[in-house]
Amino acid sequence: MAAIKITGEKKLVLVTGRAHPQLAKDIADELGSELVETDSRTFANGEIYSRFDESVRGADMFVIQSHTSPINEWLMEQLIMVDAAKRASAKRITVVAPFYPYSRQDKKGRGREPISARLVADLFKAAGADRIMSVDLHAAQIQGFFDGPVDHLFAMPVLLEHFQAKLDPSTLTVVSPDMGRVRVADIWSDKLGAPLAIIHKRRDPKVANQVTVHEIVGQVEGRVCLLVDDLIDTGRTIVKAAEALKAQGALGVVVAATHAVFSDPAVEILQSDFIDSVVVTDTLPVPEEKRWDRLEILPIAPLIARAIHEVFDDGSVTSMFDGAA
Ligand code: R5P
Repeated sequence: MAAIKITGEKKLVLVTGRAHPQLAKDIADELGSELVETDSRTFANGEIYSRFDESVRGADMFVIQSHTSPINEWLMEQLIMVDAAKRASAKRITVVAPFYPYSRQDKKGRGREPISARLVADLFKAAGADRIMSVDLHAAQIQGFFDGPVDHLFAMPVLLEHFQAKLDPSTLTVVSPDMGRVRVADIWSDKLGAPLAIIHKRRDPKVANQVTVHEIVGQVEGRVCLLVDDLIDTGRTIVKAAEALKAQGALGVVVAATHAVFSDPAVEILQSDFIDSVVVTDTLPVPEEKRWDRLEILPIAPLIARAIHEVFDDGSVTSMFDGAA
């Protein structure tokens, strides 16, 4: 008699919070599937309620949420959805958080600070998540904050394809806007066959979102500079970097970033004459009023859909990135 019994088919269930329904729909479309309708509401006092309209018993569930502003509300909604999935007997629950919330608070920079990225991982775990899927974590070690599998996807192939067709490596320099992105920028530089430059950025630890001093290491004069970052929040990092590059004789500045957080005053200052174009993905929603003619938004749904397919099918997510994931 066989020790393992195989009965029935696996059941894929995709659900989404209310933060970025278009992305979730695009993912479902890519998978040739549909989202299970969810009744999500916010009560007058701010409490959130979520209930799935269909049974999810025994399902391999993917709970999608995009952590845009108001980030705490969308985080709480996703936690509540995971809790609902657990209590409804889903077999496995994957949190799909294309932009990992609180990812910049990944270590104590000063005494008495929290490590909020770790707290978020603990919250997902406590709610009932079995695994997490995210794109371009601010720091790769966040994977270790969650006690379970983390599928860390890279937007680089999506962005790279766009730039390979447009930029000439012989006049190009890849630029890391701060020390934290050097490793990733180095991979970009290898893939594009272009040299690397590094900007030394300083922040005042007591003032949020203020960028102060820049020094540049590397050849930028007479070059087209491709600034690569994981996220653009207020835009100050990128704009200060672009100004500094232009001041050192750069011919042009183009920007690639995965997560378009675009808090004020990003949209206004990114339209600066120092920046020729900004290319981002849609891990976060970018409403019409935050778009301008030199902004390009690339779809991330095909990448996430493929990763969901690999996870559901017990395939390989690593194989999507030449073994690098
Ligand atoms: C910093 O470590 C990040 O990679 C980004 O450069 C930064 O968080 C962007 O913030 P902002 O757009 O507000 O300068």
